[in-house]
Amino acid sequence: MTFRSGLISGTRYAIFAAILGKSQQYKKMTTRIGTDIATARALLEAGEAVAVPTETVYGLAANALDAGAVLKIFKAKNRPHFNPLIIHLPAWAAVARYAAEIPADADLLARRFTPGPLTFLLKKKPVIPDLVTAGSPKVAIRIPAHPVARALLSQLDFPLAAPSANPFGYVSPTTAQHVFEGLNGKIPYILDGGQCEIGLESTILDFEDGAVIVRREGGVSVEAIEQALGRPVLLKTAAAEHPIAPGQLKSHYATATPLYVGATEQWATRFAPEQTCVIAFGNNMEDVAAAHRFQLSPSGNLDEAAQNLFRIMREADRCGAAVILAAWLPENGIGRAINDRLRRAGQEMAGFEDGGHS
Ligand code: TXA
Ligand code: MG
Repeated sequence: MTFRSGLISGTRYAIFAAILGKSQQYKKMTTRIGTDIATARALLEAGEAVAVPTETVYGLAANALDAGAVLKIFKAKNRPHFNPLIIHLPAWAAVARYAAEIPADADLLARRFTPGPLTFLLKKKPVIPDLVTAGSPKVAIRIPAHPVARALLSQLDFPLAAPSANPFGYVSPTTAQHVFEGLNGKIPYILDGGQCEIGLESTILDFEDGAVIVRREGGVSVEAIEQALGRPVLLKTAAAEHPIAPGQLKSHYATATPLYVGATEQWATRFAPEQTCVIAFGNNMEDVAAAHRFQLSPSGNLDEAAQNLFRIMREADRCGAAVILAAWLPENGIGRAINDRLRRAGQEMAGFEDGGHS
């Protein structure tokens, strides 16, 4: 009898344990925000994914050499596995450990712009898991300039794979609070390094047959790269069906509120003022009510506009308007990268621009 009831309770226990295990699997993790590099380091060494500040945007980092740790990034972000990750190193000197070939142009540009917002696509060594590169023979490598990122990386004996620390498809985070808003309950720790100085992701460069190819515009301008090289680069940043850099996907950086960019002269006839908010560069669009008008840079400075862009896109997204309207910025320097992000956050832009929709 005792034996039988023991058996029954054992079975019950097994069922209970199975249910508990399942519920724990789905239980939200507690997400802490702090400035303790040692905590971030310990978690990363234990194979966890941790948000870290960089000078461009916050990254969601994990040990790039540990596929299990890298999987946690994809899971927390809900990011498709075909989208490869950038690895971050403490110094350019470490690049030869992970890249099989270093073209002379890459070396020249690294010496000029790193640490900084520039990413290099280089033939990978086998030590980099295929999950990191989504099966590509090239790995994306960056040396961030943010002092907290540098301090952390210099204490680790592995590189950090890190995409921007936002749920897949949403606006990139430029503060620890932005990361928290998107990933609370999904990661254990957000290392707070203040507001990101650049505010836009790195420029991604590829090297093929002696040519330097810009795959994504970002923190280092095309003009600056061409000046350093002494010759023009190729621009291959257009959206593609199955993109080489899925940062090229049009729905990237999207706000929940539909965002239309350009064609400012049509706005008044198409949208009721009380239902819209606008993202202005400097002092343009002064006729729009202050509560509905977000300025990227009151003084018309492109660097400041880049720094503020993602924060303002988030604020505009919360302002209660039915649509967000944004004007193009000057198409030079980092203005080009800002326009690229607006273009890809924008919806139905073609229909709007050519007047195809009413
Ligand atoms: O500034 C930045 O680059 C930030 C910070 C955290 O470093 N990172 C960032 O990561 O923007 P993410 O994943 O949001 O964007 C990286 C882009 C993606 O579009 C990805 O497809 C592309 O880089 N990429 C990464 N590895 C690649 C590879 N092996 N080949 C082609 N594209 C790659
Ligand atoms: Mg991203």
